[in-house]
Amino acid sequence: MTLLVTGGAGFIGSNFVLDWLAAADEAIVNLDKLTYAGNVHNLASLQGNQRHIFVHGDIGDTALLGALLAKHRPRAVINFAAESHVDRSILGPGAFIETNIVGTFALLEQIRAYWGSLAQGEKSKFRLLHVSTDEVYGSLGAQDSAFTEEHRYEPNSPYSASKAASDHLVRAYHHTYGLPVLTTHCSNNYGPLHFPEKLIPLMIVNAQAGKPLPVYGDGQQIRDWLYVKDHCSAIRAVLERGQVGETYNVGGWNEKPNLEIVHSVCDLLDELKPRADGVSYRQQITYVTDRPGHDRRYAIDASKIERDLGWKPVETFETGIRKTVQWYLDHPDWVAQVQSGAYREWVATQYGQA
Ligand code: NAD
Ligand code: DAU
Repeated sequence: MTLLVTGGAGFIGSNFVLDWLAAADEAIVNLDKLTYAGNVHNLASLQGNQRHIFVHGDIGDTALLGALLAKHRPRAVINFAAESHVDRSILGPGAFIETNIVGTFALLEQIRAYWGSLAQGEKSKFRLLHVSTDEVYGSLGAQDSAFTEEHRYEPNSPYSASKAASDHLVRAYHHTYGLPVLTTHCSNNYGPLHFPEKLIPLMIVNAQAGKPLPVYGDGQQIRDWLYVKDHCSAIRAVLERGQVGETYNVGGWNEKPNLEIVHSVCDLLDELKPRADGVSYRQQITYVTDRPGHDRRYAIDASKIERDLGWKPVETFETGIRKTVQWYLDHPDWVAQVQSGAYREWVATQYGQA
């Protein structure tokens, strides 16, 4: 049996592929466009592994998708492929509409045709798992209850609006055509292989480079953090035991203000790789202009996946963030490789410094 994974050279997708191939016999066909966020070096340890078939391509390429589905006949498709960075969606929403909405539509059409061609036994076992986000639910007030699966959609950024649109298409393909879909809504991930445009890896690499640690606004925005390997185990649980047509929120009950996250990173670096002058990395924290339309608080109610599928995260924030900081300290080559010309251009545009 085979899985088709899209976006499997990105942060969560590559963690998923690596974990899957370490634990299961099934092969993975990994379709990735290799945008700035996709990185074949994430998958370097799979070189020569016959069960990993990497295909460089776009989920919007219907001919390629049709051919891949016909050739490999996957029992499931897991859709990670997306433009994923909120700040980039604010500067240029076009790519988000193209991949997250039009690309998902193209993927759905090809999967619908493939699924329709399967024999009854295979057809009933087939699954499309669409990886969505908690951001589609919008922003919570300080006293609001955490997002349940019934929370209304209220996306606030071009990124979250494009993810919401893709969720609606996935839902409609189930409702209209009976396509066996599953959708997950996870909170903020962190861990190894995280591209250093996102908060935690950006802080780790900037701190070591002696650069400012840019905190947006007052730094009191709240995110709900989950170690990436726990997200991957949740996806495996949903794929194997999830009820077709259902959505599952994924999170570790781990809300923290951004400033507290930045302090944790600084304190770990102070312990593991102190600055030569003995001063804390906290001294590099710099308050910068806030993100336009910045969502104040996300929080996931993970009761459903815990109750119905028996899933629970393994890492606490304290164990996960220590592993993460240590991973970046142990992989300076990976960091140097991703900080290519394109990365430097982004930093210059967003933060006005190289
Ligand atoms: P990422 O940006 O690190 O990786 C995205 C991957 O998709 C990259 O490898 C990229 O090359 C690929 N890709 C982009 N456009 C493509 C296209 N048109 N065709 C094929 N491949 C394409 O993102 P991530 O953080 O790994 O997120 C993966 C998924 O999980 C996304 O759908 C995102 O919305 C969702 N998600 C992310 C988080 C998080 O905290 N990072 C939390 C919840 C949900
Ligand atoms: O909630 C899930 C989402 O989490 C995913 O759907 C997105 O793909 C993923 O990128 C992430 O979105 P966020 O916008 O929450 O993540 P980011 O790391 O960009 O920012 C986290 C918080 O930190 C947010 O409140 C903005 C703030 N921030 C971010 C950066 C990059 C800063 O204060 N300074 C920064 O330089």
